Amino acid sequence: MNLPRKVRVFEVGPRDGLQNEKEIVPVDVKVGLIDRLTQAGLTAIEATSFVSPKWIPQLADAAEVLARIERKPGVAYPVLVPNRKGLDAAIAAGCEEIVIFGAATETFSKRNTNCTIAESLARFSEVCAEAAKHAIRIRGDLSVCLGCPYEGEVAPEQVSAVARDLYALGCYEICIADTIGVGTPGRTRAVFDAVARHIPIEKLAGHFHDTYGQALANTYAALECGVAVFDSSVAGLGGCPYAKGATGNLATEDLLYMLQGLEIETGVDMAKLIEAGQFICGHLGRPTGSRVARALTAKAA
Ligand code: HMG
Ligand code: MG
Repeated sequence: MNLPRKVRVFEVGPRDGLQNEKEIVPVDVKVGLIDRLTQAGLTAIEATSFVSPKWIPQLADAAEVLARIERKPGVAYPVLVPNRKGLDAAIAAGCEEIVIFGAATETFSKRNTNCTIAESLARFSEVCAEAAKHAIRIRGDLSVCLGCPYEGEVAPEQVSAVARDLYALGCYEICIADTIGVGTPGRTRAVFDAVARHIPIEKLAGHFHDTYGQALANTYAALECGVAVFDSSVAGLGGCPYAKGATGNLATEDLLYMLQGLEIETGVDMAKLIEAGQFICGHLGRPTGSRVARALTAKAA
């Protein structure tokens, strides 16, 4: 099996991780985290979300965060945008890449964004048309592709139908997300195979929460399908407030360790990545969720 020689690691800790913290993390700490991730060599760092502060108060400081991070040329700092209001605020804050996010099931769409799938696509159609005028790059994330906390199993064909609609709006990439981490490798392969019938595999990414400890195995299954972009979260931060029981994402350190072992290039520096994880865990006052960070830190002590 030929695996990709290079993988783009799409860091989601500052957004997916910090949106899920009970205590609101100060702007300084968010900026400190993002700057450290930049220094670690990541080329895509999801910085924050321009969503309703009533829904996600943790990221209400989005504009300030974007204004204060040190942006390095060649690094993307995408932000989540749910509607036109979010897009306008993101543009005012100087964003160059947005992430629109939909769901493969009606119930999750309703719980997460208070609209049906069709309504979300209509909102995004307006968002994408406007973003294109500003030369903003658009990524599309699709939740609950491997199982839904409200509807249970999700048919791969249902995933591919919504993925196709999102892609048609002008996304440069579609990210297939296992929001609650219930997927297993066989299922992951089935979903990517179904979606790849409509969207080229090089336009697909994987986003695996590690709730059931399957994230790395699912990543490997997706690599075997030819997927070469993976979301992960430093120190395994993360979750979704509208998906009960969803724990952290696949830890970036764990992903990197596996990719290094497979001799797959990422451009990410493990030592600096671990430092970024220590920085945020120090602030949150809890140990890292990354087994690799724990092992390497213990070894170095
Ligand atoms: P709504 O309540 O139906 O919207 O929410 P609304 O239009 O009625 O607005 C309600 C209030 O929010 C109004 O304020 C709006 O102005 C304001 P009020 O008049 O009451 O003072 N508002 C906004 N403020 C700032 N920025 C905005 C914005 N929009 C409205 N963009 C809405 C609909 C979509 C806004 C809401 O449901 C929402 O913000 N949802 C976001 C939920 C979210 O961020 N979830 C987590 C991210 S997704 C995720 O984690 C999954 C992912 O990781 C992949 C995976 O693992 O599956 C990506
Ligand atoms: Mg997520």
